[in-house]
Formats: sequence, structure tokens, C-alpha cells
Amino acid sequence: MPELSEITNNIEQTFKTKFNSSPDMFYSPGRINLIGEHTDYNNGLVLPAAIDKYIFLAIASREDDEIHIFSQDYQDSYATSLSAIQISNKLWPDYILGVIDQIQKLDKKLRGVNIVFGGNIPQGAGLSSSAAVECATAYAFNSLFNLGFNSLELAKISQKAENEFVGVKCGLMDQFASVFGKENKFIKLDCGSYEHQYIPFDTDQYSLILFDTQVKHSLASSAYNERRQQCEYGVQLIQKHYPEITSLRQATQAMLDEFIKPFDAITYKRCQYIIQEIKRVEDACNDLLESDFRQFGKRMFQTHEGLKNEYEVSCKELDFLVDFVKDYPEVLGARMMGGGFGGCTINLIENKAIDNISNSTAIAYEKAMGKAMKIYPISIVDGTKLLKDARNESK
Ligand code: GLA
Repeated sequence: MPELSEITNNIEQTFKTKFNSSPDMFYSPGRINLIGEHTDYNNGLVLPAAIDKYIFLAIASREDDEIHIFSQDYQDSYATSLSAIQISNKLWPDYILGVIDQIQKLDKKLRGVNIVFGGNIPQGAGLSSSAAVECATAYAFNSLFNLGFNSLELAKISQKAENEFVGVKCGLMDQFASVFGKENKFIKLDCGSYEHQYIPFDTDQYSLILFDTQVKHSLASSAYNERRQQCEYGVQLIQKHYPEITSLRQATQAMLDEFIKPFDAITYKRCQYIIQEIKRVEDACNDLLESDFRQFGKRMFQTHEGLKNEYEVSCKELDFLVDFVKDYPEVLGARMMGGGFGGCTINLIENKAIDNISNSTAIAYEKAMGKAMKIYPISIVDGTKLLKDARNESK
């Protein structure tokens, strides 16, 4: 993996060569999620953090209304104009175009732009590289054209781009984490009220490490949207009796038992997982505040069981990785992370055992699954930022 400075230098250099001017540079990080999976679009609680894997975006405005984008990672370009934005047939430009489209829908006056972007967030690994591209774009436009959006608005614009332009009905967690990340802190976010609290990751004994199955499931986004619909259907069944219930956040076990269980077994399983998981996030945050990492880790295992059996978004590779590490006493917790059907597991492990366990797991995984897994050590970092301000430098 190249050094960060090498990546940013390459992006800046490409920009200068292609567009013959100096860009402003922005970056936005990927994210992990400690606990609280699939709860964001149910107005529930989540506990993400931004990590030291980034999208870097070099940008400068143009005099006309053209948009020229170059992807450093795909070595591919795309051009359109502000008045002709539509879905590309390549996907990678859509995360940028979707954000520009949302900003225009808010009646903001823009000019055309030149963009070069790239980074080191592995794609399809569940680390939200797409949210990072969206947030970097939203932040860059906000800065370049003085649009006056606050951080929450930038996260919401980015989420809406994903929902409406890209077509994945995701919640707010990824974009919120990318924008609001803070060094060495988890973000306890209430997705109903947007209230959030930073919880320190205060330990020199344990670390988080990701094991990447290297599985990128092609059905992930359609299955994701289907889960979301199932949750909404559960709410509709409850609403027939309690019209004031507008999300599973407000639902109780008794409501699920009375109004969903007799009619729809699958919807019942899905909803039951969600209300248990929302409660688990609350409890897990208390564990962290009491530095009870063992108890926190147990809840990570419980989340995995729920995602595997009730919510059914795991896959055999993810299950293998969690199963393999669970009997090591030095592994406090492990679970699949993110939307599911592939991507990474997140593991909380005693520092002294990390190398040994990572190596044994990699060997066992390759033997059992016939493919290599990847290992990502991570640090928790700040959210979206301006890296280099070419406009002020040249003044
Ligand atoms: C994806 C979505 C998020 C969230 C997670 C599951 O990452 O983008 O909004 O729903 O899945 O927790």
C-alpha cells in the first residue's frame, strides 16, 4: 500500500498535468462500526468511527458549467455539465454527480469544476468508500462556492445522493461518521434526533483489527433495500394499532409479539433483531464508559449471531472468520461489520496476541475458503477536512 503522501502527491500531480492549474485538496475517511448494525435507517443508535483510510479529492472551479472528473484509481475520466447531470454508466462518477445534483436541487448557484480523486479505502470491503467520496465532494463544494452548509447538512446531502442518485437506501451512519469523525473517539449517534456523543476508545491493552473476506456480494444492495422494506412493513403492521409509532426505534417487544409474530415470521425476525440491537448499543456504550471491554466484546458476538440468524445478512466467509477467532481467550469480540454479504469482520483483540491470531486466522481462512483474506490494522481519526488550500496559497 503506498504512503498517504505518495497518494496525495500523485493526485495533485495528475490534476496539474490534466488541468494546468493548482487544486484545493480535501479528504474524507472511511469508517468502522463497533456495534449497531442496520439500526440507522430504523432511527436507532449506532457506534461508528472514522478510520485512517481516505478518499482524497483535488478540485478547482471552472469559468463554464462543465464538470470534468478523473478517477486516479480507475485511470478513467468522465465529463458532463451542470445542466446535464444524469447517472453515468460507470458507477464511480455517480457518487460525485449525485452530490452535485442534490446541491443544485437546493437552489445553490454553482460553476463547473475539474476534479481528480482517489485513495486507499478498499472498495466493497464495507468501509464506506462511497460515503467518503460523497462527503469529500459535498465538503469541497461547500468550501469552493461558500454554500454555508453545516456538517450535519453535508452528511445528509451525501446520504441523499446515495439514496436518490445511486439508489441504495442507506441510513445516515456512514456519511455522519466520515464527516464527524474524531481522533480516538467512537461516535454514539442517535439516528432519530441526530444527537451524538463522543466516547473515548481509552485502552492501551486492546486494539481493533479488520479481517477482509475479500467477498464482494453482487446482491448486497438489493438485499439491503429489501431489509429496509421489511422493517418498514413491520412498522406498518404495528401502526394499525398504534398510529403514533413511526419507526422500530419506538416499537416494543410486546408490540412485535402481538402485531407481527402471528402474521409474518420473517418480518418478526427482522424487527426483533433491530429492537434488540438498538438496546445493545446503549448497553455497549455503558460498557465502554465503565472500561468493561470484555462485556463489550460479548455484545459484539451477540450482534453477529443476530445478523446471521435473525437479520440474515451474513455469509459463510464472515461466519467462518467469527467462528474461528471466538475461542481465543485474547479475542474479546468479533462480528461482521456493515451492510453484510461480504466485506470485513471487526475484532477486538488483546494487543499481545494480535499478530499470532491474525496469522493463524489468515492461514485457516485460505485453507477453508480457498481464497486469501486481508488484514487491516486501523487507527481512529478526524473526519472530512481541507488538506491544501490552493486559493489562499496563491494570494
Ligand atoms: C451500510 C449502510 C449504512 C448502514 C450499514 C448497516 O453501510 O450504508 O447506512 O445501514 O450498512 O449498519
